[in-house]
Amino acid sequence: MAKTLNIAVIGGDGIGPEVTKEAIETLRTVSGAALSITTSDFVLGAQHFLDTGEILSEETLDALASFDAIVLGAVGGDPRDPRLAGGIIERGLLLKLRFAFDHGVNLRPTTLLPGLTSPLANPGAIDFLVVREGTEGPYVGNGGSLRSGTREEIATEVSLNTAFGVERVVRYAFAKAQLRRKKLTLVHKTNVLVHAGGLWSRIVDEVASDFPDVALDYLHIDATMIFMVSDPSRFDVIVTDNLFGDIITDLAGAIGGGIGLAASANLNLTGEYPSMFEPVHGSAPDIAGKGIADPRAAIMSMALLLDHHGFADLGLALSRAVATDVSQHSGTSASRSTTEIGNDIRALLS
Ligand code: IPM
Ligand code: MN
Repeated sequence: MAKTLNIAVIGGDGIGPEVTKEAIETLRTVSGAALSITTSDFVLGAQHFLDTGEILSEETLDALASFDAIVLGAVGGDPRDPRLAGGIIERGLLLKLRFAFDHGVNLRPTTLLPGLTSPLANPGAIDFLVVREGTEGPYVGNGGSLRSGTREEIATEVSLNTAFGVERVVRYAFAKAQLRRKKLTLVHKTNVLVHAGGLWSRIVDEVASDFPDVALDYLHIDATMIFMVSDPSRFDVIVTDNLFGDIITDLAGAIGGGIGLAASANLNLTGEYPSMFEPVHGSAPDIAGKGIADPRAAIMSMALLLDHHGFADLGLALSRAVATDVSQHSGTSASRSTTEIGNDIRALLS
């Protein structure tokens, strides 16, 4: 009997449902008889909130917890809409899922595939993996404001870092580096953020002794920005905190041929809760509903899903199909619809 993966699908807002549909269809194609995929749709996101008042209820969260994995498209509406102010959807839905399901590792690979154009004049070989912490840092809402709206206002935003949260993501990053080119770069700002930076550095040094074959490097976040555009091939695996990882991976997406190809995985390392797979890009309301969004970031996220669930061979087949699709369409200006791109990739798989 083929193994079954029960997947909760949150298409979300904007182009989210369009790219997710292609991702799921492609996941089914590559899985063939080896893996049986069942899906349940969950209507969530900015539009759902405006329609119903729900961002993410405890009932919905409980229901999602029972799935093997979550596939998410994109969530978020018009940033000028006052009803959505304060990032309530981002924090109340996306971050709530990452926190509630303890997604301690946020995995974001960047590969400049042959045929892709990088905005860098001399990109060299770009193939690195950002392992971003997903549940801590300045993201957890540890802070507040007093005397809000007055000249005497005080606002704090405290970065939270635990030895537990740092160690698990660091161990994961070392293990990944060991399977790749055996180089790990810690990115932080230890010359200024001495408390968090000290914790990260000490744990990285400690864990390093369990991975003697992995070469260790350290870069400040600002210097990382220079090297990412001047010498990106120096990177193999990068491990970093939640906020630095957020910023790095947008630049990584840009130099790696565009955010339309950037995939990500939010991993629960114990399997207690479902991991979540999503493209790095947002809901792109400007092109939503036109059928022109590039579904390849969402499709590549399915390769991460397969890999995480022990189907590395299927994940590889899927990544290869996307790479072939990229090379076959490089240099052509003919634009393909979302569905055409999905169909082309599926044709390479069957
Ligand atoms: C991302 C996004 C989110 C983040 C936002 C929408 C909260 O930018 O997935 O990179 O900051 O993690
Ligand atoms: Mn981001």
